[in-house]
Amino acid sequence: MYGQAWLDYSKPSKETDRMISKIDNRIQIDPAFLKDVCIHSAIREYELFSGRIVDKIVGTENLDHKFSIYLKQISEPDLGGEGYIINVTNKVVIAAKTSAGILYGMFRFIEVLRSQEIKSPMSIESVPSNDFRMVNHWDNMDGSIERGYSGDSFFFSDHQLIVNERTHTYARLMASIGINSVAINNVNVKDEANFLMTRKHLKPLVQLAQLFESYNIKLFLSINYAAPIEFGELESADPLDPSFISWWDQQSKWLFEHLPNFGGYLVKADSEGRPGPFTYGRTQADGANMLAKAVGPYGGLVVWRCFVYNCQQDWRDTKTDRAKAGYEAFMPLDGKFMDNVILQIKNGPMDFQVREPVSPLFGAMKATNQFLEVQAAQEYTGQQRHLCYLVPMWKEILEFDTCHDVNSKVKDIISGKTYKRQFGGMVAVINTGNNENWTGHDLAAANWYGFGKLAWDTNESPESIAQNFVRLTYGLDPLVEETITKLLLTSWSTYESYTSPLGIGWMVNPNHHYGPNVDGYEYDRWGTYHRSTNSAIGVDRTNNGTNYTGQYHETWTVKYSDLHNCPIELLLFFHRVDYKYVLPSGQTLIQYIYDTHFDGAMQAESYYASWLDLESKLENTVYKRVRDRFLHQKEHARLWCDVINSYFFRKTGIKDKWGRKLY
Ligand code: GCU
Repeated sequence: MYGQAWLDYSKPSKETDRMISKIDNRIQIDPAFLKDVCIHSAIREYELFSGRIVDKIVGTENLDHKFSIYLKQISEPDLGGEGYIINVTNKVVIAAKTSAGILYGMFRFIEVLRSQEIKSPMSIESVPSNDFRMVNHWDNMDGSIERGYSGDSFFFSDHQLIVNERTHTYARLMASIGINSVAINNVNVKDEANFLMTRKHLKPLVQLAQLFESYNIKLFLSINYAAPIEFGELESADPLDPSFISWWDQQSKWLFEHLPNFGGYLVKADSEGRPGPFTYGRTQADGANMLAKAVGPYGGLVVWRCFVYNCQQDWRDTKTDRAKAGYEAFMPLDGKFMDNVILQIKNGPMDFQVREPVSPLFGAMKATNQFLEVQAAQEYTGQQRHLCYLVPMWKEILEFDTCHDVNSKVKDIISGKTYKRQFGGMVAVINTGNNENWTGHDLAAANWYGFGKLAWDTNESPESIAQNFVRLTYGLDPLVEETITKLLLTSWSTYESYTSPLGIGWMVNPNHHYGPNVDGYEYDRWGTYHRSTNSAIGVDRTNNGTNYTGQYHETWTVKYSDLHNCPIELLLFFHRVDYKYVLPSGQTLIQYIYDTHFDGAMQAESYYASWLDLESKLENTVYKRVRDRFLHQKEHARLWCDVINSYFFRKTGIKDKWGRKLY
């Protein structure tokens, strides 16, 4: 069993029902679209929504009936390939240049109908901010998911790729939020996944690619850079070695010839044990360009990740700073990547912590295509047992002004606007699995929905995205809408407060990364240290320390380097600070640590209480499932608070000003 998330059409409101009954049962299709698969998906979606089979009429003459729907081709240059216009007068015209635009327009029309926001006359025009709106699945072929918190994979089981009804619903859900590119397998390509790109798995791959195509989704595969070595066919993976080059040329030719709608490769190289060009003394550009040449003739792309750092650091080495690694490896290569290479950059310089500064690569690289990578899978943000709605975080990142140019907010860099790049976009490591509700925590689906919506329109607000998610998923009851929207919107800051405020990060149990453990990564090899003593905590990343701040535009270097001017939420990311240091708020640092943790734990407690108010308003299984998560969150937040606060109390001997219990 599995649900339909925000596409559950089974309980329309009376008003929506009334609207549907007013709409003519015929859909008129512009003949220009007839051969396109997406047009049929659009009509099918309307049928699923309305519960009726519609008559399809081909023609360009407008039907005169009231509220007939007309899917029309127009060639407004501003709409691009995927934009659409919806015009509601005495009929409904959904117009776009391509059938993909019509599909997106249809989803929007249904959304507007379901939210009861339809008016006549009414006109909606929408063009995506980003050409690429991609998700990465970290699914393994044995069915497990790396950092998956919603059950097993629905793509793979028992080393086989599966395409079934659930995959179909998945494609609809993705298209409904505008996702147009999907990498289905884990970036850590091991075992059977090495063979995913071979004849062995071709049949289901073709099936999946065709299904995706009918929802305007390009299929990407994560590949093992050193696959030919893995297959025992070559001994070297030197990107300048002619036999290695020719191996990838042949492999790519074969793939593109056999797999329709194939987008290209996603590559994690030279990172956390993955092979890459560094082994052969070559650069990341040498590696990426070798693959780019191989896929270029077929219009293929290489999405190359910038998550490259030394994970064998000695904790006693205080000179090396992991935060600097990405910039050091990639910045000198700006302009050296081929046009069909896109660098995929994690939002921050470390690894998806609850708070990090924006990666300094954004804006600094001016001659390279860039994707912004975020993590919807809640690895460090509560693993879909805690509520943590991440859209406000992503929005903040998009709005960050890198100051490298006139219009150089992250959103303009990645869309390609600032530096006129051909390719750009947003990517999420996605949080889905085969749980009935797809995302483990029912409300974690808001991150999935929200990612797509924000990637489509980076100007939309986290509030309106949350509201729409709630309306579409839980109906139009005002108390439900108000309560859940508020829970969503406050949840990131709440989670941050009781876990690791001030940008310190990492105080989690090693490996699985769940639950508090202040020193969990302190004496380890991963380059993630807080270096706390009994008088001070944090890493000095100014030019007196590791000089990470020097990787930013001067405006930010100056701001971040100044202890008094550094944003409080990043204070301990950039500075080493005495516990007795008095913050602008008047609190000492230690008191701030105590206060945020106590406040956060109280907030989490209140979440449970607010959820209980919704009992009579929600479907029972959903209500209970979420209630149990909130109960766990409340208890676990208290544990976080007590572990962290007691750790610092023991370290410093300083009591809480308000006399609250410390252990
Ligand atoms: C994190 C995560 C890994 C993952 C890696 C990546 O470090 O813990 O499981 O492989 O990110 O982004 O590649």
